Amino acid sequence: MKQNLSVIILAAGKGTRMKSDLPKVMHKVAGREMLNMVIDEASFLEPKNITVVVSEEMKLLEEKIYAAHPKTQISLILQKERKGTAHAVQSAVCDIKDLGKKVLVLYGDTPLIQHQTLKKMVEKLDDFSLCVLAFDDEEENAYGRLVIDGKGHVERIVEFKDATDEERKIALCNSGVMSIEGSRITEMLTKVKNQNAAGEYYLTDLVAIAGEMGLKRSFIKTEIFEVLGVNSRVELARVEGIKQSQMRTKMMNNGVTLVDPNSIHFSFDTKISNDVVIHPNVVFGPAVEIEKNVEIKSFSHIEGAHINSGAVIGPFARIRPGTKIDQNVKIGNFVEIKKSHLKCDSKVNHLSYIGDCEIGENSNIGAGTITCNYDGYNKFKTKIGKNVFVGSNSALIAPIEIGEGAVIGAGSIITKNVEKDGLAVSRSKQTNFEKGGKKFHEIKSKK
Ligand code: UD1
Ligand code: CA
Repeated sequence: MKQNLSVIILAAGKGTRMKSDLPKVMHKVAGREMLNMVIDEASFLEPKNITVVVSEEMKLLEEKIYAAHPKTQISLILQKERKGTAHAVQSAVCDIKDLGKKVLVLYGDTPLIQHQTLKKMVEKLDDFSLCVLAFDDEEENAYGRLVIDGKGHVERIVEFKDATDEERKIALCNSGVMSIEGSRITEMLTKVKNQNAAGEYYLTDLVAIAGEMGLKRSFIKTEIFEVLGVNSRVELARVEGIKQSQMRTKMMNNGVTLVDPNSIHFSFDTKISNDVVIHPNVVFGPAVEIEKNVEIKSFSHIEGAHINSGAVIGPFARIRPGTKIDQNVKIGNFVEIKKSHLKCDSKVNHLSYIGDCEIGENSNIGAGTITCNYDGYNKFKTKIGKNVFVGSNSALIAPIEIGEGAVIGAGSIITKNVEKDGLAVSRSKQTNFEKGGKKFHEIKSKK
């Protein structure tokens, strides 16, 4: 059910410290753009709309953002000049037809924010007109500080740049996330001035302004890791590390064995059933789904694949997008599989390339088999029936079909379809010379 809530995400920052041609919020954590991660969490609340405040460069990527959230109503609006966080929120507010009862402000560069926390922030508005998400940090930092009155209520936020030495010692910091009563936000924003150290319109001034208006204010505390911002590649890596560690813990709690958790890298959307065993040094790219009792051996790289129960993958296997691996299939070392469907009990155990291919039940693909699927211009399909045996070091030149039960002699180059139960051998005839080896050694050893 849609909530009477508008979400505003601030993302017009330049992100200069990233030293990147890509806008900061489009850098990825666990394979998902930071901004998309924030939108994902906000979407859990089912708001009536999500408005993202962006700069010109981001506006160019508009369609990409919309496509990443097909079920969510999102609009990107341009903040031409960066005049501060309150100005950014103001730009969004002007653009939203009906704000609704509640407004939630988030930052696009704070990707670890959790929807459970956001839900609490929104619920606070049942009793208060404004709520700030805060965290304790004893370290030296440049965050805004929450000034608390004698009764434990938040009185105002002072930006680090404007704070006195005393105020800078306050441990309670502002995360930037704020929830505000929809019917009051416009009036509050018009009261924000830019007479401060940065010459900017601070969103944080809303706390004091709400007080002056006689409105009730509150705050919620969370852990610092949930609200870590990303401004540099070092911070991006730190956030990635936290996200990975969260996913590993979740996987293990769901019954997945990670032999060496720290060496396994997941994507935001990796789905793994219980009783799957993952050996050290495995990387999961986007869109991987693994059913029960699968074993993934070391140094495998898997993306865009569905792997059914009982399959064994690796070590050193590369599984590429569009791959479907059925029950009890075995993929061995140095095997690359692309956009192929391997049916139950089939095996590709060593040193092969299988691309644009369908392999039937219980077929065995010998070591070094290559499906030659590309002629430099187009891709072609290979279709292998069930119970087929392909001898080692065969090249199957697509488009080609190998019928059920057929056998391919080792070392064959197969260019014509092979019928059901047929045998195809295609290699040059062997010539043996009697004592030829002995003569060879005699000649060579004399030289
Ligand atoms: C802000 C808060 C500070 C808080 C900190 C947490 C204010 C005034 N200060 O400070 O209290 O501790 O975040 O990280 O809000 N943005 C725009 N348009 C603008 C200005 C900013 O979209 O005109 C966006 C930025 O892209 C960024 C976010 O708003 O995502 C925060 O802006 P930033 O300048 O980084 O604020 P801080 O100084 O870090
Ligand atoms: Ca910042």
